[in-house]
Amino acid sequence: MNPLAEQLNESIRSGNVHLYEMLSTLGKEIYFPKEGILSQSAEASSLAKKFNATIGIATENGGPMHLAVIQDTLSAYKPQDLYPYAPPAGKPELRTVWREKMLQDNPSLSGKSFGNPIVTNALTHGLSMVADLFVNEGDAVIYPDKNWENYELTFGIRRHGSIVNYPLFTDDMKFNSEGLRDALLAQKDKGKAIVILNFPNNPTGYTPGAKEGEQIVAAILEAAEAGINVTVVTDDAYFGLFFETSLNESLFGKLAGLHPRILPVKVDGATKEDYVWGFRVGFITFAAESKETLAALEQKALGIIRATISSGAHPSQTFVLQALKSPDFAAQKEEKFNIMKGRANKVKSLLDSEKYGGVWEYYPFNSGYFMCLKLKNVHAEPLRQHLLHEYGIGTIALGDRDLRIAFSCIAEEHLEELFDMIYKAVLDLQTK
Ligand SMILES: Cc1ncc(COP(=O)(O)O)c(C=O)c1O
Repeated sequence: MNPLAEQLNESIRSGNVHLYEMLSTLGKEIYFPKEGILSQSAEASSLAKKFNATIGIATENGGPMHLAVIQDTLSAYKPQDLYPYAPPAGKPELRTVWREKMLQDNPSLSGKSFGNPIVTNALTHGLSMVADLFVNEGDAVIYPDKNWENYELTFGIRRHGSIVNYPLFTDDMKFNSEGLRDALLAQKDKGKAIVILNFPNNPTGYTPGAKEGEQIVAAILEAAEAGINVTVVTDDAYFGLFFETSLNESLFGKLAGLHPRILPVKVDGATKEDYVWGFRVGFITFAAESKETLAALEQKALGIIRATISSGAHPSQTFVLQALKSPDFAAQKEEKFNIMKGRANKVKSLLDSEKYGGVWEYYPFNSGYFMCLKLKNVHAEPLRQHLLHEYGIGTIALGDRDLRIAFSCIAEEHLEELFDMIYKAVLDLQTK
């Protein structure tokens, strides 16, 4: 093993041996080169006052070389904030500002020991870093039966984790923390599990209430007390879009500092929160007690970044940073929040109006971009096909009976027509 990786492992092991045990083989072996091109170049950027002939960018007239055909369309930004490589961990100021925002949005984090967010190429990348660092072949990766389908590729196919699903809802349509608890405790022999929590949930649009949140935390704590090392990822992709009374903080805050066998990892980002899907700016943040452990985990994460994408795109980090610092940011976010909330409320009032004669139920939703119909008499895929070909309406069929509707992309005034047509399409199929 590389001596630098060994040093990092030692820092993690001496801080908390359970965190060391959670690392995958790759997680144990990875390190960020201290004396490579990046660090020599960083040293040169502060000391090489005469000529800096280090890193692979080109310069001209004291700044990064660039083409006018690009700069002319981006003239609000300085070339040095667009063209050079961003550091592998991301723009330092963006990391600081995101951390402050995390604290502001999640008062439960105050006084907790957690690291500096590391910039990722958006949330998928953060999730795949978690998979790289913590999932070995056969490790249990636990998440509910209603989930974002890409977890399967990220944790199952790519890292050969063993996917363990539990029903998201109880019979009375609350979060099934008992199911989570049982799935976790079933890993006692393995001594290890990776849990993914995603609220607001894709595809249902559900966020649990405060009491359910406590039950989730209690289930994870119980597993840790039973001797299971639990890496808990909060996939906070849709964070902030809480339209009713539910948890409105990430459970990362409650999980931080809870038990030495729990490693909370927050995966979040600007993608959905700030409506910049194609920018690819996300973050991964660890919570652990000792500064040395956090620093070592950060070095491991940087090793994965260096080995895969080397560093994230610089322009989009600049764009997001500029937005976060703008005095207009909060007001503009609120304006969009209200539009999304208006759509969610409208969908709910339509569904509760009994206009649609009991052809479907819907899963509880109170947040995020989506809601899910549970079809009673027709199957989801034929309905999706029928909607697409006969009505020109696109929806997502999930499993046998669920149809996901993204109200995030339908204007409030069109929602009634949309649901009327889905209803009509159901009737078409029922009478066929
Ligand atoms: C629950 C969830 N997590 C993560 C992502 C991925 O986000 P990103 O586009 O930032 O990679 C999505 C995207 O649909 C999602 O629904």
